[in-house]
Amino acid sequence: MSVKAGDFCRASPAGGCLQTKNVLKKARRLFVVSQVYGIFAPKKRSIVDPQALIHRYYADWPELEDILLRHSERVRDRALSIAARHPELHLDERFLAEAAMLHDIGIVRCNAPGIKCFGTEPYIRHGLLGGEILRSEGLPSHARVAERHTGTGLTAEAIRRQGLPLPERDFVPETAEEQVVCYADKFYSKTRPDVEKTPEQALQSLAKFGEEGLGVFRGWMERFEDY
Ligand SMILES: [Fe+2]
Repeated sequence: MSVKAGDFCRASPAGGCLQTKNVLKKARRLFVVSQVYGIFAPKKRSIVDPQALIHRYYADWPELEDILLRHSERVRDRALSIAARHPELHLDERFLAEAAMLHDIGIVRCNAPGIKCFGTEPYIRHGLLGGEILRSEGLPSHARVAERHTGTGLTAEAIRRQGLPLPERDFVPETAEEQVVCYADKFYSKTRPDVEKTPEQALQSLAKFGEEGLGVFRGWMERFEDY
């Protein structure tokens, strides 16, 4: 015998409907609890303190930690200023701030003595390595921002053509938050973290990644600024 929806109520109006109501009540309660505790939270899981996470990886390298924090704070502030001026982008500001602070966490594993990085990996891999760190910390959305912020993003084709020591995959910023962090990053170097580049200087720093990146950056300038 097949049972159809509503049979409960027809067979036993009082008991059946009560059962259905109880099931709905429990489902609603489960939903509320899951939202409060983030059990089924979307990928943008939040962390309490990006600086504490950075410190765990940089405790032995205080000079590098200082350079990283100064650079990342400026990227964060510029990203948040874009969020404030462009409500139509619907940016998740908390995630944006966290991801901006963490996007360069991978530099600790790279070799760039000029900015006190005494690791062994080529610097071009810092985004990928940062992504590995953040994934290992259970932060896959933050990891995506780190992996996709080199230049204006790297395509598999560009990686192959330039012979870069990276997997031949697309590392291109896709979400608005990924694009804003990537864009804001282009205005600040780590050699002079307190100096803001002009748009022209930011464009110059992108020239080595090819013409395509310049077009992407100009598009972001129109979208994120009021030039
Ligand atoms: Fe950066």
